[in-house]
Amino acid sequence: MKILMVCLGNICRSPLAHGMLQHLADEKALGWTVHSAGTGNWHVGNPPDHRSVAAAKRLGYDISTQRARHFSPSFFDEYDHILVMDSNNLKDVLRLATTPQQKQKVRLFLPEGEVADPYYDNALFDPVSKQVEQRCKELITELKLQYRFIGI
Ligand code: 4NP
Repeated sequence: MKILMVCLGNICRSPLAHGMLQHLADEKALGWTVHSAGTGNWHVGNPPDHRSVAAAKRLGYDISTQRARHFSPSFFDEYDHILVMDSNNLKDVLRLATTPQQKQKVRLFLPEGEVADPYYDNALFDPVSKQVEQRCKELITELKLQYRFIGI
């Protein structure tokens, strides 16, 4: 199963979700691949924001080796699930989808609501990291169950 995490810059929120879900899936030897991308291209090739790297490290995750990518329409066919951090990301990604099948792969990372953008607020990095970690743990259970039934 291939999962893509998406935010705006691909340097704060989606790298956290990418690194945490990959780590948790690897711990359970699930064989999943988790990647991330941004709807904006300003930070392509850059490592995650140092504040996300530090917040992730405090929770036991190393996201420092990731590099930012720009969302490409080819990702609709490459990934099974495309999980986005906020409603702007949702709108931007859905605008690029051309078929109902592509649209169906896209949903908010949180079941209800958005992951706040911490880029302009240092105090948000730790709470956002904890929220993302908690949701990744839930996703392991949810997607494992789904995987068992539909086999992707
Ligand atoms: P992210 O945060 O979408 O969680 O990676 C942001 C990163 C950079 C910018 C905005 C949000 N920016 O405007 O450069």
